Amino acid sequence: MTHPSAPVDPAFALRVLTGDRPTGQLHIGHLLGTLENRVRLQEDGLDVFVLIADYQTITDRDSPASLAADVEELVADYLAVGIDPGRSTIFAHSLLPELNQLMLPFLSLVTLPELLRNPTVKDEAATAGMETLNGLMLTYPVHQAADILFCRGTLVPVGADQLPHIEQTRVIARRFNRRYAPDRPVFPEPEPLLSGAPMLLGTDGHKMSKSRGNSIAIAASADQTARLLRSARTDSDPHITYDPVNRPEVSNLVLLAALCEGVAPLLVAEQIGGGGAVALKRRVTEAVNERLRPIRERRVELAGDRAYLRSVVREGSNRARAIAQQTLADVAHAMHCGY
Ligand code: TRP
Repeated sequence: MTHPSAPVDPAFALRVLTGDRPTGQLHIGHLLGTLENRVRLQEDGLDVFVLIADYQTITDRDSPASLAADVEELVADYLAVGIDPGRSTIFAHSLLPELNQLMLPFLSLVTLPELLRNPTVKDEAATAGMETLNGLMLTYPVHQAADILFCRGTLVPVGADQLPHIEQTRVIARRFNRRYAPDRPVFPEPEPLLSGAPMLLGTDGHKMSKSRGNSIAIAASADQTARLLRSARTDSDPHITYDPVNRPEVSNLVLLAALCEGVAPLLVAEQIGGGGAVALKRRVTEAVNERLRPIRERRVELAGDRAYLRSVVREGSNRARAIAQQTLADVAHAMHCGY
């Protein structure tokens, strides 16, 4: 595995590419774990691409009738947290046919054993209860390589579960360059950028997940947030401490409050102390709702203008297409298909 801080090939400009599947509302874990990070990279002046990975959702499910609305909700989340479509490019798989064209030569550069041993593919297939892999599930890391390489992305902010796909992408870039462009590489070997944010659990003490009903959605109301946090799991020790190993549920609430307030978890725990779970839940509810308030206010306004949300994806996808077409022209040239 390459080290995330290894230098990116200087022949390629820094370009950030990351994405999400439009499978449900983004939550506070996304905000603190990755969305804030994207906004920071954008504010630092980097060229940021955010992919709505709609074709990736059909690896393990049918595309639902609600997909268009799901995509609009995702765009509303992006814009509300501060991703600026004037500076960053928000686009979707299904509006970028060039990605599929890029995937084809990439498929010739990977082997079946490589695909079969990808641990994230195995996990996802198991979680989805698939008895056998369909072709897209098997090859989506190659599709994901096209997501990253079409714009010559060099930095890919992701969670640790995505590292096998970045490694596969690097292998594809390396093999393509070696085979077709040994003197002047067509693709960079992108680096993963892992978030430094600590892992948050859901309110039931399990992994926070869009589908488990244990996460605080960015789009939720303050009341829904209060209700969810009131029902959060704690433990029987009435004195609040920060001890993630022995008291995961309580410590997770302390951490959530601390992250939202921008203070140390130990300080939050000390201040609550004998106030117990009731005071802890009051504190974390206040902290989360306060942190999300301006985002939610912006989001309500944005969500009212569906036509605008769609235009953001269409315009971003047009911008991405122009880049993808240039890359495809370079690929065709390198592969002796430039006629
Ligand atoms: N697989 C990613 C996820 O499930 C989403 C994704 C698709 C992605 N294409 C990408 C992430 C390219 C980074 C780069 O979260």
